[in-house]
Amino acid sequence: MEAVTVGESATRPKAGLLRQLETTALAATREAAIACQEFVGSGDGKAADAAATNAMREELAAAPGTGTVIIGEGEKDEAPMLFNGESVGEGGSLSFDIAVDPLECTSLCAAGMPGALTTIAIAERGSLWEPGPAFYMDKLLGRGELRGVIDINETPEANLEKAAEALGKAVTDLRVVVLDKPRHEDLIARLRAAGAHVSTPSDGDVGGALQVLLPTAEADLLMGIGGTPEGVMTACAARALGGFMQGKLAPQKDDEKQALEGTDLDHVLELEEMVNGEAFFVASGVTGGLVAAPRREDGWNVTESMVVAAGSVKRVIAHTTASENQANDGGT
Ligand code: FBP
Repeated sequence: MEAVTVGESATRPKAGLLRQLETTALAATREAAIACQEFVGSGDGKAADAAATNAMREELAAAPGTGTVIIGEGEKDEAPMLFNGESVGEGGSLSFDIAVDPLECTSLCAAGMPGALTTIAIAERGSLWEPGPAFYMDKLLGRGELRGVIDINETPEANLEKAAEALGKAVTDLRVVVLDKPRHEDLIARLRAAGAHVSTPSDGDVGGALQVLLPTAEADLLMGIGGTPEGVMTACAARALGGFMQGKLAPQKDDEKQALEGTDLDHVLELEEMVNGEAFFVASGVTGGLVAAPRREDGWNVTESMVVAAGSVKRVIAHTTASENQANDGGT
């Protein structure tokens, strides 16, 4: 198992009790990734989501302690989910919060396209922001050098200028990830007109955020509106790696707008409000891309996962038998 240490900007809280849960989190994302293989390219995203959710729920039931699902996935598109408020684990004194998307990028999985991941973030009890009925939020994310430099209330052009200066680059060298959604047409056009390179994946702003936060830093910024569960998980990864992130509620659907009436939509969520304690994030690959898809090798399931925890990123290759969950971890 290889631990890749990131740069000096990484925060380094003491590895705490929470890390006992890394094995559970790895098993949960790994088994979810294996379970939805049968639906890769099937066109049936809901079935893939259900398979991932059930596999994850089974693994989380064996977690040491008591976990509370603070933010699950599914309500916005009526997919099967681990419900907000659901308790998981074997019980005991260790209590923790969970933000989860059993299958991030359901449609990419259904279409057999790279980019789908099974994802979970685990944090100290009481440390995660609860978005309630908010399904969508605007996000601005970069590495730690951009804290206090860029701002979600600034224009995209101003943020490009400031980010370029802080990173010692020209605007024309900046790489920005924005989801390819009709709501982002203007944003993408403005970023490109200003000279930035803009990647526009059809889905997957968690993967987009990882491109910014990981030591390989394939992108400089992530901008635009995506899901709140993805936002909270991203915040856990950003906190672990000393990144910068801001968010703002951005309701897209009528019932969501109604449910948020009276809520201050101008409030800027700083990273510390989205996660204010120790947290880590784990993802396993489903269809390849940033994290490799599961494969069968001599009767073993071979999966790749990524663990983003305080100041480190690990890639874990696990060999598990098809019938048992006995992991035989090997390193990359
Ligand atoms: P799913 O897990 O729901 O498939 O999310 C994929 C995704 O692209 C997320 O990465 C993103 O945050 C969200 O959807 C954006 O939502 P929408 O596709 O409804 O605009």
